Amino acid sequence: TDYENILVERKGRVGIITLNRPKALNALNAALMREVVVAAQEFDADHGIGAIVITGSDRAFAAGADIKEMATLSYQEVYLDGLFSGWKAFTELRTPVIAAVAGYALGGGCEVAMMCDILIAADTAKFGQPEINLGVIPGMGGTQRLIRAIGKAKAMDLILTGRTMGAEEAERAGLVARVVPAADLLDTALEVATTIAAKSLPVAYAAKESVQVAFESTLSEGLRFERSTFQSLFALADQKEGMAAFTEKRDPHFING
Ligand code: HXC
Repeated sequence: TDYENILVERKGRVGIITLNRPKALNALNAALMREVVVAAQEFDADHGIGAIVITGSDRAFAAGADIKEMATLSYQEVYLDGLFSGWKAFTELRTPVIAAVAGYALGGGCEVAMMCDILIAADTAKFGQPEINLGVIPGMGGTQRLIRAIGKAKAMDLILTGRTMGAEEAERAGLVARVVPAADLLDTALEVATTIAAKSLPVAYAAKESVQVAFESTLSEGLRFERSTFQSLFALADQKEGMAAFTEKRDPHFING
């Protein structure tokens, strides 16, 4: 497929999507969103891919939704087109997705990063929800996912003031799994992705889905989902292989899709 706003490549069992609108600091216009979703869904359907990395440039993961594209839209257009609802498909991928964030991750950029399963930040990363400065509020999950990730105190602070937060603060707050020097960002993300992609694919799917349920339901429902999902994994050859390998003191060889 030919893409205009992203670069797509694969390294072994890892699929890489690079946001590539450098002149607009990777602002997320509708065309870019469609391309990301198509590329990610293609990787997701491919059992030769066990993890996806999404990244941007040194300067920006993404500086938000494309303000110029949406500035003059009417309510009629925004409502009928379901502005930004296309990102839902990105949150429904079963393959683990790692966001590798350097530079600006603002507004929609922060929101897309939060749609991913593991967020790895360069020490240059800057996160924020500055929509209030544009006369709107976050519209791609910012008011919902940020509070679950970092709690009410900081989420309210960021969303109401529009200030940005650096990588260290983001890690302390729990938004980010790891902070690394900018020069090491992609290598670290690829290493994490390669590690995940070597696991049993259905087990990785099940682990991701179970953690996602925790985000979206009650504790008792989540525990019920986890228990039955855990039990169902005993139907897989990979469970027999993984446990046999431990007993035999060797590395497991998972079937991997
Ligand atoms: C469209 C954008 C953009 C954006 C940057 N650009 N962000 N275009 N939408 N979100 C463009 C600039 O217009 C400029 O184009 C080029 O990228 C370089 O940006 P500069 O501003 O010149 O760079 P710099 O001075 O380094 O400042 C970087 C920045 C600033 C601090 C990130 O660009 C900025 O504040 N951007 C907007 C951040 C923001 O508000 N994001 C939230 C968007 S709303 P030209 O052509 O002039 O060179 C959102 C919410 C969605 O995401 C859901 C609810 C609506």
